[in-house]
This record gives sequence, structure tokens and C-alpha cells, in this order.
Amino acid sequence: MNDKIALITGANKGIGLEIARQLGKQGMIVLVGARSLPKAEEAAAKLQAERIQAYPMELDVTNRQHIAYAADRIEKEYGKLDVLVNNAGIYLDHEGTDVDMMRRSFDTNFFGAYALTDSLLHLLKASPEGRIVNQSSILGSVGTILGNDMYGKASAPGYTASKAAMNAWTAQLSIQLGDTPIKVNACHPGWVKTDMGGSGAVMEIHEGAETAVYLATLPGDGPTGGLFHKQEPLPW
Ligand SMILES: NC(=O)c1ccc[n+]([C@@H]2O[C@H](COP(=O)([O-])OP(=O)(O)OC[C@H]3O[C@@H](n4cnc5c(N)ncnc54)[C@H](OP(=O)(O)O)[C@@H]3O)[C@@H](O)[C@H]2O)c1
Repeated sequence: MNDKIALITGANKGIGLEIARQLGKQGMIVLVGARSLPKAEEAAAKLQAERIQAYPMELDVTNRQHIAYAADRIEKEYGKLDVLVNNAGIYLDHEGTDVDMMRRSFDTNFFGAYALTDSLLHLLKASPEGRIVNQSSILGSVGTILGNDMYGKASAPGYTASKAAMNAWTAQLSIQLGDTPIKVNACHPGWVKTDMGGSGAVMEIHEGAETAVYLATLPGDGPTGGLFHKQEPLPW
């Protein structure tokens, strides 16, 4: 099996769908993760119409059964995973700042990505060049929110703290996997015109996907353990 297999979470719309499209156009088989099967099927059908090998996968990253099923299916069908893009994310800070909002933010943005990756690590290790891309944000960069008025005033504790946790875990995982070919990096896509980014955002979706695609297709001598935007490292 020489085909590369990529799983993208939250791939039914926005940046995730575009990452799936761009990886698919490079010839990868893309597994289109979405919270519900109809959403995954609809997105996969769109990509198939563009001659991309796309297959739907019901995958709510907060659902342990979905995660177990995904790992089982990838193992049986492909025996390996070359690319995992932990793209699924939510922004709930407009709902208030209580502990419930904090927990729900972490459940998707951090624990979801963590649990899925943990369940798929043996399959990523079975790839000759596994790549893990954690879709983070500049708002998860502690140095940036302290040193930049615009980002600091965004005041989004649930989102920023959950993305900062993702960043710290990315660094830890890169150390843990340091003696393997796997590269693990965090990604800031930019401020992108999606349902989350809003219509006032400055980047189109195709451009917003480019950093994750770059990190998903890094060569063997590429970086690991960094936070990137447009091929440039950002401060943690
Ligand atoms: N847009 C920006 O400016 C921007 C900037 C920095 C970082 N990001 C990050 O980029 C990623 C994609 O964001 P986007 O702008 O494309 O947002 P979006 O259009 O709102 O898409 C978010 C995606 O994540 C999915 N999702 C949410 N919770 C999930 C869960 N529990 N399990 C599986 N999927 C789930 C959504 O599914 P549903 O359709 O079912 O809701 C949707 O497919 C996020 O991690 C976000 O934090 C975005």
C-alpha cells in the first residue's frame, strides 16, 4: 500500500474541508471526519465530485466510541495512518466565562485532539513518515497575547487556554516521538473567513488551509515541535 492516508477532523466545512481538498489533490486518500455521518458524507461527496479519493468518517472528537471505531477502521482498511490533522475546534467564549464553558472548550480543542491522537499513534508509527498537525491559533501563544494589544484584548479564556494546552502538548509529543520519523507541529492558519472567523476575517479559506497542508507534507528533514504560520515559526 503506497497511497498516503490522511485523516482530518472537523472536515465537513471551513478550513478542515479545504485541508482535505488540498491533501486530496496531492493524491492522498482523505478520511473526512465530521461530528455526524450525514455531514461527513456530504463533504466527502463534494470532494469525490472533484475526483478526490475521499471517504466519510463519523468522528465527534469528544466521543470515545467514535474514536475507537475510527482507529479500528483505519487499522483494518489501511494498517497505517500517514497524516493526522487535528483541526476540529470550537470558540465558546461569547457564551460567558463559567467553568462549564471552559470544560467544553477543553473537551473539543484539547482532550478531543489528545484522545484521538493517542488512539492513532500506533498507526502513525506504522507509516514511514507520519505527520501530526495540531490546528491551534496565535491566540494560544502566551507570549503573543501578553505582548500584543489586539490579541490580548480578545479576552477569550476558554479558547486561548485550550489552544495553549494544545501547544504545550504538541511540544511534549514532539519530544516523546523524537526517535521516530513522525513530525508533530502546531499550526496557526491566520484569521480566516469561516463560520468561526467571520466575514470580517482577512484570509480566504484556501489560503487558511495552506499552513496545515505544508506541515502535513513536510519532508524528512523538516521541522518538528514548532508552532507555524505560512512556513514561518511563531513564538510559543
Ligand atoms: N477561522 C479562523 O480565523 C481561525 C483562526 C485560528 C485558528 N482556527 C482554528 O481552525 C480550526 C478550524 O476552524 P474554522 O475556522 O474552519 O471553523 P468552523 O468553520 O467553525 O469549523 C469548525 C469545524 O470543527 C468541527 N467540530 C467542532 N466540534 C467538533 C467535535 N467535537 N468533533 C468533531 N468536529 C468538531 C465543526 O463541526 P460542525 O460543523 O458539526 O460544527 C466544523 O467542521 C479550529 O480548530 C479553529 O480553532 C481558525
